[in-house]
Amino acid sequence: MKEKIQKLEQEIKEALSSVRTQEELEAVRIKYIGRKGALTEMIKSIKDAPPEDRPYVGKMINVLKASIEGRFKQGSASGAPVPAGKPSGIDSSLPGAKFDLGSKHPLTQAIDEICDVFLGLGFRIVEGPEIETEYYNFTALNIPDDHPSRETFHTFFLDVAAERHERTGTDHKALLRSQTSTVQIRIMEKEEPPLQIIAPGKVFRPDATDASHSFMFHQIEGLMVNKNIKFSDLKGILDLFCKEMFGKSTETRFRPHFFPFTEPSVEVDVSCMICKGKGCRVCGRKGWLEILGAGMVNPKVFEAVGYSPDKWTGFAFGMGVERIAMLKWGIGDIRIFYENDLRFLKQF
Ligand code: PHE
Repeated sequence: MKEKIQKLEQEIKEALSSVRTQEELEAVRIKYIGRKGALTEMIKSIKDAPPEDRPYVGKMINVLKASIEGRFKQGSASGAPVPAGKPSGIDSSLPGAKFDLGSKHPLTQAIDEICDVFLGLGFRIVEGPEIETEYYNFTALNIPDDHPSRETFHTFFLDVAAERHERTGTDHKALLRSQTSTVQIRIMEKEEPPLQIIAPGKVFRPDATDASHSFMFHQIEGLMVNKNIKFSDLKGILDLFCKEMFGKSTETRFRPHFFPFTEPSVEVDVSCMICKGKGCRVCGRKGWLEILGAGMVNPKVFEAVGYSPDKWTGFAFGMGVERIAMLKWGIGDIRIFYENDLRFLKQF
């Protein structure tokens, strides 16, 4: 049987190489792979081959058939152009097959856009791990054990052995970071000021999922440390960022707030881009939308990383990417970002 297949293969090759016209090509096709063609008959006879040979013989025939069909699809068996006046079966004036062009996920686009503004201001992008320890998520950020503000950052703890922090020699539970402020500590531990970094990434909080909450979302952290950095620097940079992000006419408002790792702390609002500050459903008739948290780095945080608070000052800020993307594009439900519904994704 194997010899028969090889013989047939040789025969078909020779037949194809002497083909000159479309009609001859068609005749070869009928003779070998037509309904009663030699190769077709051979496929039918696989069942007569010894059982142990069948898989191999079947495979050989299939490969041969596929290669011949491929030659016929090209329209010209020898690869040479079919004589003029005879249609080749291919209309080269037709437009080519269209491929769907992919695009970046809207959250990636938002992250890129936010980062671009800060890159233009001399910030550098850094990243930190999503699996963290209590030390980076809390302790070094001036949130000691049992401090009530640990409650504000609901956290997924991991069921693995505690990890020893190298420098302090203390043991800390592993967790999924609930804020990107962890990256501030990681960078300051490694590098000396001056520093100007932004850190985009995923954070996790065990919140019940609804239109505005997800157990995983994205934040972008910012940190600037140098000599003589003042609150007015924080205001100037964040005001400029909001105008770049939401339009030149955007106004900002800095409200006193509390974060353990910054002092003083603020929450930053932007004038509602939907109603231009007049009050609407999106801003709850307030005319303002809360967009980020920020403040001057608490000297306790500098002490935790070994910086002298007498020498250095700085500011930090953190913002939610989903929230910014939702406001920018008028998206009403956070869950749609994670469903990968092409009808949504194709709009970006
Ligand atoms: N980490 C804070 C949060 O998740 C945001 C923040 C970052 C506030 C840096 C101040 C400074 O809410």
